[in-house]
Amino acid sequence: MSDQLLQVDGLERHFDGLKAVDGISFSVAPGEVVSIIGPNGSGKTTTLNLVSGAIRPHGGSITLAGARIDRADSARIAEHGIARTFQNGRVFATLSVADNIEVGMHSTLTASRPFRGLSNLFLLRWIPLLGELFIAIVGTPASRREGRMIADGVDAEIHRFEARLGPRRHDPAYSLSYANRRRTEIARAMAQKPKLLVLDEPTAGMNQSETSEVLQQLLDLKAEGQAILLVEHKLDLVMRVSDRVIVMDGGRIIAEGAPEVVRHDPAVIEAYIGRRREAKRGGAA
Ligand SMILES: Nc1ncnc2c1ncn2[C@@H]1O[C@H](COP(=O)(O)OP(=O)(O)O)[C@@H](O)[C@H]1O
Ligand SMILES: [Mg+2]
Repeated sequence: MSDQLLQVDGLERHFDGLKAVDGISFSVAPGEVVSIIGPNGSGKTTTLNLVSGAIRPHGGSITLAGARIDRADSARIAEHGIARTFQNGRVFATLSVADNIEVGMHSTLTASRPFRGLSNLFLLRWIPLLGELFIAIVGTPASRREGRMIADGVDAEIHRFEARLGPRRHDPAYSLSYANRRRTEIARAMAQKPKLLVLDEPTAGMNQSETSEVLQQLLDLKAEGQAILLVEHKLDLVMRVSDRVIVMDGGRIIAEGAPEVVRHDPAVIEAYIGRRREAKRGGAA
């Protein structure tokens, strides 16, 4: 047994013969911020998809706080304590900011879904459905308590981005700026009170001042003791927020260590920074 929060061993995933993730092992300790960097197509998002249960591995194991999660679906993994955001940002466009955040809390509710364990058993599915309907209409002391807890939780998460989301809490997500949609997405993930927060390029498409705002918010989360697994292209942000950096190339880990050490690793400069310079010169992605 390890005392790691997340332990990944020999993880593999291929797509039609392409080894997107090719036997990688790494860990995240409680309270640690670990970043994965690497060129486009190196397997970063696939790794996050595997860890969060969006897709299944073809080999290896994933353990969260001592429990194997590599066979669990994403809903079950959310209950285990992993929340994530997506590379392109995903919010429910017609829901308000507050309602989007509330959605995040429902993976951890119990009082309004007391029989949810039965919903996996085909013949008994109607019991949780009827039970939840009854509670939704009539309510119970526990579900009313939970209702108040939800309202408090939504307030707390909006407060995290008060200057940006506070005035917009009742606005539909489609009316928000791109940066505010991404903030809403992070707030929704944090509303789950995850043991591990998984972020896929949280500053993609943001300008410099928006990026430094997100950096500050990540530093605040880190100061609260939040463990984070981060994929991010902006190296300055990665260097400032990470305890440890993992470098991927071609589905494998080619370097790993403290930010300053990784930054000067010749293999990293070649695979990551060198190739990006070439891409810029050649105009190709
Ligand atoms: N659903 C998929 N179907 C087929 N190929 C995929 C799929 N997802 C990712 N890939 C391929 O796997 C490789 C790694 O992709 P990805 O993990 O998205 O890289 P990164 O996030 O590092 O840019 C790429 O070659 C990509 O085209
Ligand atoms: Mg990606």
